[in-house]
Amino acid sequence: MSIGVVGLGVMGQRMLARLAGHARLRVTRVWDENPAVLAQALAHYPLLRAATSAEALIQEPGLHGLYIATPPGPHIALTEQAFDAGLAVLCEKPLTTDFAAAHACIERIERERQRAAVNYSLASSTGLAQLQLAFGAGSRRPMGALHGVSIDLRFSAWPRPWQAGAGAWLSQRAEGGFSREVLSHFIFVLQRVLGPARVVRSTVDYPADGVGSEQAVEAELVAGGVPVAISARLEGDRADDNRMLWHASEGEIELRDWFGVTQQRQGERVQSMGDAETLRMNGMTDQLSHWSAMLDGHSHSLPGFAEALAVQKTIEAVLAGKA
Ligand SMILES: NC(=O)c1ccc[n+]([C@@H]2O[C@H](COP(=O)([O-])OP(=O)(O)OC[C@H]3O[C@@H](n4cnc5c(N)ncnc54)[C@H](O)[C@@H]3O)[C@@H](O)[C@H]2O)c1
Repeated sequence: MSIGVVGLGVMGQRMLARLAGHARLRVTRVWDENPAVLAQALAHYPLLRAATSAEALIQEPGLHGLYIATPPGPHIALTEQAFDAGLAVLCEKPLTTDFAAAHACIERIERERQRAAVNYSLASSTGLAQLQLAFGAGSRRPMGALHGVSIDLRFSAWPRPWQAGAGAWLSQRAEGGFSREVLSHFIFVLQRVLGPARVVRSTVDYPADGVGSEQAVEAELVAGGVPVAISARLEGDRADDNRMLWHASEGEIELRDWFGVTQQRQGERVQSMGDAETLRMNGMTDQLSHWSAMLDGHSHSLPGFAEALAVQKTIEAVLAGKA
């Protein structure tokens, strides 16, 4: 399967590395509007060929799919062009900066049965699978009744060091910030298991310059009748940390450090589902299999555009604040 990639910044390069040597998915064409970024990718992967524009890449004969790793602004327009050319799309999150355009795109996907998914990587994680078994639709409730969910995120700096080379957009209020970048992954998990969340209360601290992204978020949501507490902030003197705790009458499940999962039944010892790095590698392999299935038009577990838009609506409602 031949894949074109548009956007070769931090995430685009990560995906190139992930796909290198994959048995089925092969990146053949790439494009980035920044010539230096494009040249760097070509130097690193000499077998890649550059397009002359995003439009030219999408029109390239023999391509099966497009992976979009630009900042959110161009996501929907590039997706629509890809559909026009008969390509399947894997798009980065957040889905869009334009809800009306995203709604029209989702209608098209449903009407024309277009193949499209969004890269919320926890979709292919052991943690999500455990949570669905414990609390999802059809669960036999082995952990008892769910009492509450808490999400705690701490960042020593924003952007994080590995994303320091990303564009200015990442630390700006309009498109970036840790809520859209990180909290959204956990809201995706929350809504996949419990359905749509509603913001009850939200307090957001922004820097005084009017441009920079949020520095702290404290919020209460409700999803599936269950209270959800969110606390996320920059704390310069602490190492980065992320945890999502699901607290039930007969036990707890915790997601930690992205792909790490522990669970504990009352009176028993904490049980780990494996080390976070191994679970991450398994999740990534699984994700590529689902992407491949999506390209074939088969069923898969990747989030669709409607699910990703629902996540983004919750995130934007949190960022809007509510007394
Ligand atoms: N799924 C995840 O875990 C995850 C992690 C990090 C970032 N992301 C998402 O990936 C996307 C990219 O993030 P990033 O950190 O790589 O940003 P980045 O700023 O490092 O890279 C974006 C690249 O896109 C290029 N670009 C911008 N507009 C373009 C256009 N119209 N055509 C072609 N190229 C264009 C820029 O020149 C830049 O090189 C964002 O939506 C971000 O939220 C997802």
